[in-house]
Amino acid sequence: MEPVLSAYSFDTVVRGGRVATASDVFEADIGIRDGTIVQLGLALPRGEREIDALGRTVTPGGVDAHCHLDQPSPPPIKMADDFDSGTLSAACGGTTTVIPFAAQQKGGSLAAAVSDYHQRADGRSHVDYAFHLIVSDPTAHVLHEELPSLIREGYTSFKAYMTYDDLKLDDGQILDVLDVAKRHGAIAMIHAENSDCIEWLTKRLEGMGRTAPRFHAHSRPMLVEREATHRAIALSELVDVPILIVHVSGREAIEQIRWGRAHGLNIFAETCPQYLFLTAEDLGIDDSYHGAKCVCSPPPRDKANQQVIWDGLRDGLFTVFSSDHAPYNFEGAEGKQPDNQQVAFRHIPNGIPGLETRMALLYSEGVLGGRLSLEKFVELTATGPAKTYGLHPRKGAICIGADADLVIWDERDVVIANAALHHNVDYTPYEGMRLKAWPGCTLLRGEVMWDGRAFVGRRHQGQFLPAGRPSILPRAPSGASFLTSINP
Ligand code: URP
Ligand code: ZN
Ligand code: ZN
Repeated sequence: MEPVLSAYSFDTVVRGGRVATASDVFEADIGIRDGTIVQLGLALPRGEREIDALGRTVTPGGVDAHCHLDQPSPPPIKMADDFDSGTLSAACGGTTTVIPFAAQQKGGSLAAAVSDYHQRADGRSHVDYAFHLIVSDPTAHVLHEELPSLIREGYTSFKAYMTYDDLKLDDGQILDVLDVAKRHGAIAMIHAENSDCIEWLTKRLEGMGRTAPRFHAHSRPMLVEREATHRAIALSELVDVPILIVHVSGREAIEQIRWGRAHGLNIFAETCPQYLFLTAEDLGIDDSYHGAKCVCSPPPRDKANQQVIWDGLRDGLFTVFSSDHAPYNFEGAEGKQPDNQQVAFRHIPNGIPGLETRMALLYSEGVLGGRLSLEKFVELTATGPAKTYGLHPRKGAICIGADADLVIWDERDVVIANAALHHNVDYTPYEGMRLKAWPGCTLLRGEVMWDGRAFVGRRHQGQFLPAGRPSILPRAPSGASFLTSINP
């Protein structure tokens, strides 16, 4: 039988937009065939489908490189979003790739955590996805067998926690994990807060009866983040391997990262919307339990620290801007009020929702607010995360050969309302906030998922993306390691 030849060169042309990449902004039509960008230029021939982007900005689909979906929690706590609802909200907010976490349980296997997580994700995701690993029990088997083979199979990033009893590693364990990252070409993400200081402060606060949500911020002052950030940097220096410090909240942690870089160390950093748009006051100015909605770690700081975060976004301190979406309902027994109780702050599940609002918050307040260039916006929300986690240039780029994952922006007044969001969480910390833009169209591999009003895509077409070697890793170790002196 003769093949059916299309009369069109392209399945879709996104026409007339102002195309923004991490390095340039230019007028171009985008020609798409079989889900891939195949041509960029002016006056491209008609496509089978035409999408009008005249006068509007087109950016790569967002890559949210830090979000938690359907991650098992100790009962009765349960995340409100699974892959279905979480990735629906991602698509409607302009994010086309997510990287959530397959978390090892202490005493359990990491490989088993990955296969369990695939069962939760496969066939249920509306956008493409890769997995980070969480290493909570680095036994010899995990370090020498499981991690190396998982890295080879496309899980090239893992998170190590310095806090949370069920997840934290001691310094020796972190060194072991960093050593695996170095030898096998992976990137380690570090949650940097000093666990013992937090526990000591928490007990003191509890002894004084100070258990309302707002005291969560008092139990995790900047000092505990500063100390742990410095320690993580020292551990990375000892092993001579890059690390990425996640969810950096303010000045003192940033100073440590700048110090590390000034000493020639490869320290990367991520921040999140909560450190730009919330403060500790959102955890409550009195003992009201509503502050539980904004309990996350590290906690939001103050206005002065928000400014320091903006400065770091602009000047290259940060490589990645993620949501750290950790979805727990405010009402009900599974979320912020376990067993329907208003509990002491130490028992409030940590985390806030943000997958759907991340892109619009930064576009509106960063780009349209005159704080960030369009190129920097693209770098932070798409290109940087894709490079950092081995997905570039398939993801995070508008170039020939890249997946046609795109956002066309509508610059219009928007008031954030939880009722209009698509996650399964009963609140947003940004309720009532006025923005100047929202994604007017999201395309995943050339198909329209969100048209500015509703999800219109094929459901559950998200594909698993095995990650390659993170492109931020050096090609060869620097050779300047402390280890060379004991192992010449
Ligand atoms: O409070 C937070 N950030 N919860 C999510 C887990 C984490 O540490 O990222
Ligand atoms: Zn964390
Ligand atoms: Zn997180």
